[in-house]
Amino acid sequence: MEKKTILVTGANGQLGNELRALAPQYPDFRFEFVDIQELDLCDAHAVADHIERLRPAYLINCAAYTAVDKAESDVALCWRVNRDAVENLAKSASLCGCRCLHISTDYVFDGKDPGRPYLETDPTGPVSVYGQSKLAGEEVLLKYCPDAVILRTAWLYSPFGNNFVKTMLRLGREGRDLRVVSDQLGTPTYAADLAAALMAIVVSAEDGKYAPGIYHFTDEGSCSWYEFTREIHRQAGISVSVTPVSTAEYPTAAMRPAYSILDKTKIKMTYGLQIPDWKESLACCLKRMD
Ligand SMILES: NC(=O)c1ccc[n+]([C@@H]2O[C@H](COP(=O)([O-])OP(=O)(O)OC[C@H]3O[C@@H](n4cnc5c(N)ncnc54)[C@H](OP(=O)(O)O)[C@@H]3O)[C@@H](O)[C@H]2O)c1
Repeated sequence: MEKKTILVTGANGQLGNELRALAPQYPDFRFEFVDIQELDLCDAHAVADHIERLRPAYLINCAAYTAVDKAESDVALCWRVNRDAVENLAKSASLCGCRCLHISTDYVFDGKDPGRPYLETDPTGPVSVYGQSKLAGEEVLLKYCPDAVILRTAWLYSPFGNNFVKTMLRLGREGRDLRVVSDQLGTPTYAADLAAALMAIVVSAEDGKYAPGIYHFTDEGSCSWYEFTREIHRQAGISVSVTPVSTAEYPTAAMRPAYSILDKTKIKMTYGLQIPDWKESLACCLKRMD
C-alpha cells in the first residue's frame, strides 16, 4: 500500500527540526519537509499547486512569524505569515481532504490571571501584534478546515535556532550579571515534546480516533522567566548572578501576558498523552546540546 504523506511546513524552525528528528520512528509515513526556500506560504498559487500535486494526508504547519517584539513594527509581514499564509494552506487542504495540524500560542490570551490555568474555551484577548495575528490564523484555519487540530503552546525551546535557553546559556557563560523578569508566569516547553504530541495525534487519527479542535499543550508545571533562567543555569552548572525584575523595569516593544499557564486536561484526556515536567525536559534538551 502506498504510504500516506505528511507535509511539514516551516521545517527549518525549532518544531520543524524536531519533527525531522522524529520522522525515522514513523516509517509508515512519507514525510515532506519544506521551508520558505522550497515553498513560500505567502504565495497562494505556489501553495495551491504544491498541495494539489502532493495530496498529503496530513499537513503539520510549523511555519510562523515568531519574532514577538519585531512584530510590533513589522506588522504587515507578521500578519501575512501568521494569518494569510494559514488561509492559503487551509483553502488548499480543504480541497484535497488533508487534515491540518497547526500551532498557536498562549499569547492569544490577555494574561489577566483567571485564577486557574487557561482553558481552551476561555475568552481570548491578545495584547501584541504577534498574538493578534496568531489568533486570526486560528480563526481563518477553522473557517476553511473546521476539522483541523490547533495546539496552543508556549515558551518553546530546542537545540535548534534561537531561543531563551540558548540565550541564557550564552549570557551565563559570558559571566554577565543578568536581570530577568519574575512577574510573567508560563510553562517552558521542549519542542521535542510538542513534536511527539503531534505525531501521537496523527497515529490516533490513523486508528480512527481523530478529534478535531483547539487544544492546549505545554510541558507540565510552571515558572517565571526568572525561575526558568535559574534552572537553566543550575542544570548547566553555571554560576552567575541573576536579579529578578518586574515587567515594568524591563520594557520590551511587545506587551506579554503576565499569566499564561495553559490547562492541558483536554489533550491529555482526548489523546491519552503523558506530558513530562518542564524541568525533566530541560535536562533532556541540555544533554542533547552538550
Ligand atoms: N517559539 C516560541 O516560543 C513559541 C511559543 C508559542 C507558540 N509558538 C508557535 O509554535 C510554532 C513553531 O514555532 P518555532 O519556534 O518552531 O518557530 P521558528 O523556529 O521561528 O520556525 C518558523 C519557521 O517558519 C519559517 N517561515 C517563516 N515565514 C515563512 C513563509 N512565508 N513560508 C514558509 N515558511 C516560513 C521560518 O523561516 P525563517 O526563519 O527564514 O523566517 C522558520 O523556519 C509557531 O506556530 C509558533 O507561532 C512558538
